[in-house]
Amino acid sequence: MNFRNVLLFVITCGLVMGIAVVSFGAQKPMYTDGIDAAFPPFSYIDKNGDPTGFDVEVIKWIGREMGFDVKIVPVDWDAIIPTLKVGNIDLIASGMTINPKREKQVDFTTPYWKINLAVVVREVAGEDGAQVPQYNVFSAVAPGRTIGVQRGTTAQTWLQENLIDKGVDIKLKLYDNFLLAIEDLLIGRIDCAVIDGPTAQSAVADRKATIVGTINTGEIYGYAVRKGDTKLLNLLNEGLKRLQASPEWEKLVNKWLIGG
Ligand code: ARG
Repeated sequence: MNFRNVLLFVITCGLVMGIAVVSFGAQKPMYTDGIDAAFPPFSYIDKNGDPTGFDVEVIKWIGREMGFDVKIVPVDWDAIIPTLKVGNIDLIASGMTINPKREKQVDFTTPYWKINLAVVVREVAGEDGAQVPQYNVFSAVAPGRTIGVQRGTTAQTWLQENLIDKGVDIKLKLYDNFLLAIEDLLIGRIDCAVIDGPTAQSAVADRKATIVGTINTGEIYGYAVRKGDTKLLNLLNEGLKRLQASPEWEKLVNKWLIGG
């Protein structure tokens, strides 16, 4: 190589490295959000196969605002905390209730929503032919009933601790997701189903089922990250704060949680 070629070579290398550094520097971090894909209106898969719902839109908004990309992957609810702990996902944004047992395993953002549990029963033909609830809230959870819950939810824990452990003779049937419980309810395999109110509402909206009562657990939702992942926790908390201070928050709430 003569001197000119060496010079050209050096300049080219410099340019390539420069471009690599610039593009590397501009690369946004990517965080993987694990969701239960059957938990409307917070997280579910729409008709086109795309993840959607309140929590999905919130996390995407926060990502745009705080400068990170989000990849959304469906995970079985019952395995979602272990999946986070081993590092296969970086956060959980999927209607998760903050409670002391989970706080030992993950770190939660500031709470963003509050719910109570709802008791859902099937609608049957009444005497005059009109559709009526098969049970009221008392008879729905009375001794002898079989109650459907999603495995690993606060509904399961509540019924276990407040009814079964106190001697009430009910049976719990556990499902991997809540919509499977609703399918079984509609064909009479279970007597009622218990889940978070907003999810119950969206499940009964287009089915022959209805909510006959509420259990006032007053649960609060937060987004979960691995214990000690303060970097992501701070990004999520700051993003949530900005979102809640912007008109977009009310739009999302009306679209998914109140208006719908
Ligand atoms: N909020 C309840 C819980 O944390 C039910 C959650 C079910 N959420 C879901 N994405 N499946 O246990």
